[in-house]
Amino acid sequence: MSNTIQAIRGMNDQLPEDLSCWQQLEKNAAEVFNLFGYQEIRLPVVEKTELFARSIGQATDIVEKEMYSFQDRNGDQLSLRPEGTAGVVRAMLQHGLLHNAIQRVWYSGPMFRHERPQKGRYRQFHQIGVEAYGMAEAELDVEVISMTHQLWKQLGLKGAVLEINTLGTVDSRKAYRSALVDFYQLNRDCLDDDSIRRLDKNPLRILDSKNQAVIDLNKNAPDILDFLDTESAEDFNKVRKLLDDLGISYIRNPKLVRGLDYYSKTVFEWTTDKLGAQSAICGGGRYDGLVEKLGGKSVPAAGFDIGMERLIELMKIEGLCQPEKRQDFYIVQTPDGARGCGLSLAMQLRDAGYSVTGNIGDTSFKSQLKKANRCNAQIALIIGENELENKSITLKQLDNGEQYSLASKNFVVEVSKYLTS
Ligand code: HAM
Repeated sequence: MSNTIQAIRGMNDQLPEDLSCWQQLEKNAAEVFNLFGYQEIRLPVVEKTELFARSIGQATDIVEKEMYSFQDRNGDQLSLRPEGTAGVVRAMLQHGLLHNAIQRVWYSGPMFRHERPQKGRYRQFHQIGVEAYGMAEAELDVEVISMTHQLWKQLGLKGAVLEINTLGTVDSRKAYRSALVDFYQLNRDCLDDDSIRRLDKNPLRILDSKNQAVIDLNKNAPDILDFLDTESAEDFNKVRKLLDDLGISYIRNPKLVRGLDYYSKTVFEWTTDKLGAQSAICGGGRYDGLVEKLGGKSVPAAGFDIGMERLIELMKIEGLCQPEKRQDFYIVQTPDGARGCGLSLAMQLRDAGYSVTGNIGDTSFKSQLKKANRCNAQIALIIGENELENKSITLKQLDNGEQYSLASKNFVVEVSKYLTS
């Protein structure tokens, strides 16, 4: 039996062959975020557990059962971040960046949730997202939604559907919550154990239950739109109108409540029917109460996070991942005396911006050519006995096998003429 150590279940290695699509997404997202005036922020992956308990909510699945929490050597209670928003608010407060200021930031990185792993659901996964502070107007909700829309456009993504809802202000949500509890109490027989457990602590989450009897019951559940105060109703109408004006289509999903407690007013998700059960590729919304809850003055805020694994899977399904850029040259050098020439040619080519792999090791001509093909180079540059003697290079196009002997004072210019892409 092998005693090699394996990665932890639900935490995946990202191998070189997978990474070009990741880099494509990261590059496009950074471009779009910069187009909207957002600046990058980088934060630790470990924070005090209390930060997540206070922001995401004690009664959420994430805090109750999914966090990787531990005591460090000083006895401090810490957690791997299960999401990025709480850490951004902590950092903005700590560095005084929210004081009478509008802030727009973006970030990306690994997040950790001890969920049951399955396709599209991992214990270490990656998010890329934005947060914006200091703007209470519905235009901000629409700005962050339109950033995701712009990114899909730039990537060429077609299969994502925007779902929106409102959770109202704290007051309107209180009224809704109690109407929901009354409704579920009357229909307690239809609830599964999970929903009964949620009834006291977090009844809104029963709305997105996956249990069929509860799904059926929810068809008749009260709708938050009937409980909104004037402010929440006006804001939601404005968001819808602005989305219409921008030509961004959406469906209103009255069951969209999100799994984190910090939201108020607009919430949204982008979903797809191409990824099976884990259908949400992005989620976000407004969270006006969170800064105050974490000890700051009240500052309105909104943001979103994209689940990168899921978006990349969707990009693959839609054929949007660009092929990896090919290596330009591979230098095949057989006699000992050719090595110096090979190294110097490689350096000159790299100085001119071409990618070059030089053969290392005392291997046969045939095996060096095999390696050139394996690293997907376009062209092999061969320096053998004859070439050394004639001060020439043999250039072999690896796609069609055509070969040319080149004698030149300026090999860099000469060989680069044969590159096709
Ligand atoms: P969230 O909905 O929990 O929101 O996560 C956002 C996205 O991360 C999901 O739509 C999904 O694509 C991806 N995701 C979540 N959990 C997993 C998992 N276990 N495996 C793979 N992908 C996953 C948030 O995290 C909020 N911070 C969003 C936000 C930012 N709201 C305001 N600002």
